Amino acid sequence: MPLSCSQLSVLYGRRKALNGFSLSMEPGEIRALIGPNGSGKSTALQALAGLIAPAEGRAEIEGVAAASMSRRAIAKKLAFLPQQPTAPDEMTIAQLVRQGRFPHVGLFRSYGRKDEEAIEWALESTGLTSLADRTLQELSGGERQRAWISAALAQEAGILLLDEPTSFLDIGYQVEVLDLVHRLSRERGVTIVMAIHDINQAIAVSDRISLLEKGELRFDGEPRALAESGLIEQTFRVKGRFVEVAPDKPPHFDVELTKLS
Ligand SMILES: Nc1ncnc2c1ncn2[C@@H]1O[C@H](COP(=O)(O)OP(=O)(O)OP(=O)(O)O)[C@@H](O)[C@H]1O
Ligand SMILES: [Mg+2]
Repeated sequence: MPLSCSQLSVLYGRRKALNGFSLSMEPGEIRALIGPNGSGKSTALQALAGLIAPAEGRAEIEGVAAASMSRRAIAKKLAFLPQQPTAPDEMTIAQLVRQGRFPHVGLFRSYGRKDEEAIEWALESTGLTSLADRTLQELSGGERQRAWISAALAQEAGILLLDEPTSFLDIGYQVEVLDLVHRLSRERGVTIVMAIHDINQAIAVSDRISLLEKGELRFDGEPRALAESGLIEQTFRVKGRFVEVAPDKPPHFDVELTKLS
């Protein structure tokens, strides 16, 4: 199993942000992590990436406890795009994406052809080839977001953790990123966990969905089962209904904008 965790709990001070969270990923699976603001999605991703030590339970990368692995060892297997990544403003896209290759090239070794190809592919996949020499401060929010996605891709890890990769993106690029996620999974067998707010995008792109509420796992299963559970309305405290769009496609959640009517 490429990635799993069992009974993971994370404390910030005395407050439990994640309580007994479990997840097991099949190779090449796409998992959407959904839940209200503050429900523990980013915390869960950081714990899966081995960036926060859990108070209880453990995360495993290819069967090895993440807590026992070095950063570099983890980075060879897993790429993580945080919700709010930071880098110096004067860094260029090309530099940022090159940095994504860091776990492969080592401290003093130079970049080989395979590294250059990975960088080129990462830039191209995010539509950034022509912007590669721009600095991060010269980019729009969406371009910056794509630069970070590109850096994560250049890492060419078998596991990709994405924290709201489509926030800031216009609808065209949202679809493009989701399409890219789908292709990475299906064509390259990349295992992907992605925190995402758009329920319909989550349902459309993922094989399975984990729904968090106040740090607790409320649902773990296929999109259609989630649609049938009634949990979306309950958890997000909205009114709405699932509408069938096509027989071979999962239904679409149509939220009622009650306060606007
Ligand atoms: N570094 C931190 N120190 C203390 N509390 C934190 C820290 N990071 C997150 N929290 C708290 O932990 C809980 C879970 O936060 P988390 O960022 O995991 O939520 P989330 O589901 O990713 O939310 P969002 O949808 O807003 O990104 C929240 O109550 C948050 O206030
Ligand atoms: Mg978050």
